[in-house]
Amino acid sequence: MEKFMGWVNERMSVTRVWEDHLSKYYAPKNFNFWYFFGSLAMLVLVNQLLTGVWLTMSYTPSAEAAFASVEYIMRDVEYGWLIRYMHSTGASFFFIVVYMHMFRGLIYGSYRAPRELVWIFGMAIYLALMAEAFMGYLLPWGQMSYWGAQVIISLFGAIPVIGPDLQQWIRGDFLISGITLNRFFALHVVALPIVILGLVLLHIIALHEVGSNNPDGIDIKKYKDEHGVPLDGIPFHPYYTVKDLVGVAVFLFIFCSVMFFFPEMGGYFLEHANFEQANGLKTPEHIAPVWYFGAFYSMLRAITFDIGPIDSKLGGVIVMGAAIAILFVLPWLDRSPVRSWRYKGMISKVGIFVFGFVFALLTWLGTQPATQLYTLIAQVCTLYYFAFFLLMPFYTRWEKTKPVPERVTG
Ligand code: HEM
Repeated sequence: MEKFMGWVNERMSVTRVWEDHLSKYYAPKNFNFWYFFGSLAMLVLVNQLLTGVWLTMSYTPSAEAAFASVEYIMRDVEYGWLIRYMHSTGASFFFIVVYMHMFRGLIYGSYRAPRELVWIFGMAIYLALMAEAFMGYLLPWGQMSYWGAQVIISLFGAIPVIGPDLQQWIRGDFLISGITLNRFFALHVVALPIVILGLVLLHIIALHEVGSNNPDGIDIKKYKDEHGVPLDGIPFHPYYTVKDLVGVAVFLFIFCSVMFFFPEMGGYFLEHANFEQANGLKTPEHIAPVWYFGAFYSMLRAITFDIGPIDSKLGGVIVMGAAIAILFVLPWLDRSPVRSWRYKGMISKVGIFVFGFVFALLTWLGTQPATQLYTLIAQVCTLYYFAFFLLMPFYTRWEKTKPVPERVTG
């Protein structure tokens, strides 16, 4: 074995990569609950890729056969039901995990220098993930697949001048048809997974270049022993590989409970209307996106009024786009002298806490019919969402922060 590894290492240093990224990659010793979600995101990604390949073996991407082929997978293909539920439950869990992962970044200031690129690559992953989920949802060719896609694609129609042509270009037809289904299939199964994998690789490379942040938000490279090893660092392998396995076990327990007992999750993971085949002549009474798009959909619907020359539809699209775009520049909005919320002032602490609540509320509102009261709540939440980010350069500079300890506190 040693001889073989020697032979390989002379040609391609596997041992060096193993050491650089695992056995001699020193991570802060105070990782907590919030640090489980990076490895869990990788686990779910692998689950989606594998179950996706197996689904593709029995799925037919045509308007005539798609819906029936999903039923065929559910009823006739050996363990087809399991593979499909792993994939559909996995989609929702992907977003749960990624939202927790992003929230960790927010509370501990992991997006701050020198980790801006880690955050930006993360945001690019998030965008690609949204596109991936949106296109995947058209594939079962159910009522909500069809009408959900109709709503989202029609948003592009609100863009001045090029809108209508752009809409037609995306669909590849005058209305959503088998042609749209075919291109969404190609993008969902081939193009976007490659993009996501590439971005995850860049995300990890960028992170390992500068090292992980930690719940105290302090630099562990300041204090090193005589071998240059950070005093507050521990080798990622075996310490965190084993610790992450605990997270994986708990995660799988929850994931399997949902997948085996509530795969539809009361209509939140698989919407009821999607058990009926797509029908372009019959609009469902209530069109709602899947829950993970809820927050942005709420903000889109919150703009019920024209703003000067901008009509409400275009206004909604702009607000929704801005809500995502603002996350990209987060590293430059936070001017606090400290990274972690542990040492930030009261405004930031309460602000982040309320932000989490507001985002969850917007998410839920997005899945509900837009009544007058709900629209009003969504408008207030949208205001909060933007105020939280746009006022950040001011309150993070003015508020009184706590002294940051020299070494991690455990
Ligand atoms: C497929 C999706 C993703 C995967 C597989 C992934 C994977 C990872 C992994 C393995 C880590 C290191 C372990 C950890 O700190 O938890 C990490 C760190 C990080 N990720 Fe992600 N990530 C994903 C999406 C995102 C997104 C959407 C964002 C934010 C927009 C993001 C922002 C970050 C940040 C800021 C760090 C550094 C955290 C720190 O050092 O405190 N990631 N990611």
